[in-house]
Amino acid sequence: MRKNIVAGNWKMNKTLQEGVALATELKEILKGQKPNCEVIIGTPFIHLATVAEVIKGSVIKLSAENCADKESGAYTGEVSAAMVKSTGAEYCILGHSERRQYYHETYEILKEKVLLALANGLKPIFCIGELKEEREAGKQNEVVKAQLEGSVFNLSAEDFSKIVLAYEPVWAIGTGLTATSDQAEEIHAYIRSLIAAKYGKEVAENTTILYGGSCKASNAKELFSKPDVDGGLIGGASLKAPDFKGIIDAF
Ligand code: 13P
Repeated sequence: MRKNIVAGNWKMNKTLQEGVALATELKEILKGQKPNCEVIIGTPFIHLATVAEVIKGSVIKLSAENCADKESGAYTGEVSAAMVKSTGAEYCILGHSERRQYYHETYEILKEKVLLALANGLKPIFCIGELKEEREAGKQNEVVKAQLEGSVFNLSAEDFSKIVLAYEPVWAIGTGLTATSDQAEEIHAYIRSLIAAKYGKEVAENTTILYGGSCKASNAKELFSKPDVDGGLIGGASLKAPDFKGIIDAF
């Protein structure tokens, strides 16, 4: 059975002190609770080691938002998958549209990052999703298929099984425009059918596919009620503990 997950993506927000305060508050409000989903927070690199200590003994798991496409060495300013793993993080968000758009991460670069994350024991949360123009041209299926084929369908079934997918339509990220639950279900079901064609029905049924893009407490329940929507990857609403808790409670 696949897992339901609510994962936060803090993006480039919060100083170290603010991040520690947010993680502490979230730990406090989840204390003694048994959420019906896995709870992950994705933080900037500099927060990881400290936040790992803060959330010890809680239900919260930790993710990075990126890792390098090289193993180690003379790559000034980069952070390797091994370094991320050494902080205590368990997951690594890869392929976010902001990385693709603003930092020109190609299918090939992302393929390397996914392989390095897996080789270092990190579980990738791999993001896919179409631009507004692509949705308007009815090309969303074509786009997500190419993103999967370009960066993760090279994996063995065993490695693919360690991946969480996040469908994030770019037009819905930070815009307040959410995909309707029917739009989300339609493309999540399509993504699952692609996985089934490539890896078989069992792997497809066990793959967690998150929705991301203006997901908040008020729409999470409706989105998560769809059979192929297994949770959310949350940006803005993960920056305040009560808002994030409201989404966790949608399960
Ligand atoms: P928002 O929830 O702020 O729209 O961001 C979604 C996202 O990009 C999560 O990775």
